[in-house]
Amino acid sequence: MTKTKDFLSVSDFSVEEINALFKRTEELKKNRFQDSFKNKAVGLIFQKPSLRTRVSFQVGVWQLGGQCMSLSPAEVNIGVRETIKDAALTLSRYLDLIVARVFKHKEVEELAQFSLVPVINGLSDLHHPCQALADVFTLKEKRGDLKGLTLTYVGDGNNVAHSLMQITSMLGINMKIGCPKGFTPDKNILALTQAQGQKTGASIVVTQDPKEAVKDTDVIYTDVWASMGQEREAAKRAKIFKKYQVDKGLMSLAKKNVLIMHCLPAHRGLEIADDVMDSPNSVVFDEAENRLHVQKAIMLKLLGK
Ligand code: CP
Ligand code: NVA
Repeated sequence: MTKTKDFLSVSDFSVEEINALFKRTEELKKNRFQDSFKNKAVGLIFQKPSLRTRVSFQVGVWQLGGQCMSLSPAEVNIGVRETIKDAALTLSRYLDLIVARVFKHKEVEELAQFSLVPVINGLSDLHHPCQALADVFTLKEKRGDLKGLTLTYVGDGNNVAHSLMQITSMLGINMKIGCPKGFTPDKNILALTQAQGQKTGASIVVTQDPKEAVKDTDVIYTDVWASMGQEREAAKRAKIFKKYQVDKGLMSLAKKNVLIMHCLPAHRGLEIADDVMDSPNSVVFDEAENRLHVQKAIMLKLLGK
């Protein structure tokens, strides 16, 4: 089978495809075991650590009746031990699907360019598309109609923020981003998603004031202040981001039934206070669970099942 598609960023799918994926996800959540991946092999390549992505893909493939292997940087080291092109061409002879977590987005693009089987981005410096799909699926489960909701992202304008900007602008969800100067989202992604939002009636506003960002919002979303690969900046960032911590004070400015979201892993006491993470408004573990269900829908779609 020649591959039809890769999934490197949310915008690789149309609005119709995303809605169909959500429908499939609902079914897969109810009926977890199938044999559609019988005789299929999936390879997971990680250049960075992972708990959720690794385990949810591995369990997901198993629940679909396929085989899955996870390859650490020590074993594969793509781009160093051999070129990404050679690794992609070789892996295509063994596998039916590749999931890759890389440092630079260019690396997963190159892998997809040369791979003869579909490639899923399991996180790059620019995007985390599986996460955004699971997050908005969770929001839909909790709130039903998505149109007109406002999701506020507080913290670093990073990969997770970018993927959320893409999906919210496509589905008509307003987004407010509260982040310090110098840590705003990528300018190109902002311009593209704002243009997309104009078509669906979704606004994307960036402010440096976290209080203004969360005022009357439906969802507060946060992520680590220093992403994987930025560990050396962690102490400096902790000072810069101090007033962006999602604590009870910030939460009290949002709607009473505000949902608290985080892609995890969380640094409790830094970007999110313990009592907020553990509050009844928090749906962080639902998001983590939904990674499993939504990724199964994505894999089935990419393999034409
Ligand atoms: N949210 C997420 O991708 O978690 P991991 O880094 O543990 O895979
Ligand atoms: N922004 C974080 C997300 C982890 C799931 C990182 O890239 O490390």
